[in-house]
Amino acid sequence: MKNILVTGGAGFIGSNFIHFLLKTELKVNIINLDAFTYAGTLENLKDLPDMDRHTLVKGNICDQDLLADLFQRYAIDTVVHFAAESHVDRSISGPGPFIQTNIAGTYMLLEAARNYWAGAKKLSGVNVRFHHVSTDEVYGSLSPSDAAFTENTPYAPNSPYAATKASSDHLVRSYGHTYNLPFTITNCSNNFGPRQFPEKLIPLIILNALNGRKLPIYGDGLQVRDWLFVEDHCEAILTVLQNGQTGETYNIGGGNQPANLDIVHMICDLLDETCPDSPFVPHRDLIEFVTDRPGHDRRYAMNIEKIRNTLGWQPKHSLQEGLKKTVQWYLSNVEWIAAIRTQQEYQHWLAENYDKRESSI
Ligand code: NAD
Ligand code: TYD
Repeated sequence: MKNILVTGGAGFIGSNFIHFLLKTELKVNIINLDAFTYAGTLENLKDLPDMDRHTLVKGNICDQDLLADLFQRYAIDTVVHFAAESHVDRSISGPGPFIQTNIAGTYMLLEAARNYWAGAKKLSGVNVRFHHVSTDEVYGSLSPSDAAFTENTPYAPNSPYAATKASSDHLVRSYGHTYNLPFTITNCSNNFGPRQFPEKLIPLIILNALNGRKLPIYGDGLQVRDWLFVEDHCEAILTVLQNGQTGETYNIGGGNQPANLDIVHMICDLLDETCPDSPFVPHRDLIEFVTDRPGHDRRYAMNIEKIRNTLGWQPKHSLQEGLKKTVQWYLSNVEWIAAIRTQQEYQHWLAENYDKRESSI
């Protein structure tokens, strides 16, 4: 692992992964390919620990010529594929970009890797790896009494987002089976932490609460997610890159499974504690129950025994610790927030999805 192509490295998890990797002792070069959709921002790449080992390329994973050039020019031996359209609500209002980036884009990237690693100009004598970053949402939804998802749980994606990720997982696996492309896949639960775009539950609640906006809870708020602090996810990916078996998939999760409403209460209480002089204390008063998401998955939970037993990884942060760090990060990074806020796209999204949303009571 020397020259790593990270796709989507200006987004939430990709940028955290780059920060994380550059803090390690590993002497790797990172080529960061990102299209800078609404979800990618240069703000996420400020203050990188070792700028010299990071090359930023603005471009699309669907651009075949660009991909071929990057593999060749930088002698790419490892791909860590984060780039995706990642928000379920957006996939419901407009699935097109999800099909394009998550399915067609992954196909293009697989082709580029296959052509370069197995083609006439191939790297010789170098271990190569295509690592695909995926989600627990490919497994569908659990009822309260179901056991947690394992790597053998059949795929049953429910949202267009989950269906495109399932599709890309299958493509990656098929390239391994058919063309011997060395791959690993990680399926991870909901992440939270610094630099997450405020359309996802946790940053949306923090920023809305700080500004006295309503805190929208879909349906009854009793849906359950398996929350993982993003740094723990980054460490798990690196563990799989270094020690995971090619051809294997690994589940990653946080072992934290509160209902959405509990998470929102925890954030409100943390903000009451940290900002006691805010005019919006108690922040819980801002909670508003709104119309549920269509096809809303009820519960996710990950069984992480495989990665724990075979690779020795497990999360380091409790939910409370992770949430504290996250709230602190948003309170200390006003410039980041200001930059995101001024994005036209963000304003539009807020207006379309929150200002017009009907209260359910
Ligand atoms: P994100 O939306 O924050 O970032 C996605 C990044 O990909 C952005 O920087 C965007 O500009 C870039 N991108 C989008 N389309 C592109 C294209 N066609 N070409 C190049 N770049 C493109 O997403 P995230 O939350 O950081 O998620 C990263 C990956 O992790 C995704 O594959 C997602 O499915 C997976 N994942 C996310 C979570 C989570 O909770 N966020 C959990 C499990 C898995
Ligand atoms: P989200 O962060 O969008 O992630 P995902 O849909 O991939 O799990 O949502 C997390 C949970 O929070 C999910 O059950 C939907 C719910 N939710 C709300 O109740 N209100 C909101 O404003 C958002 C964005 C999500």
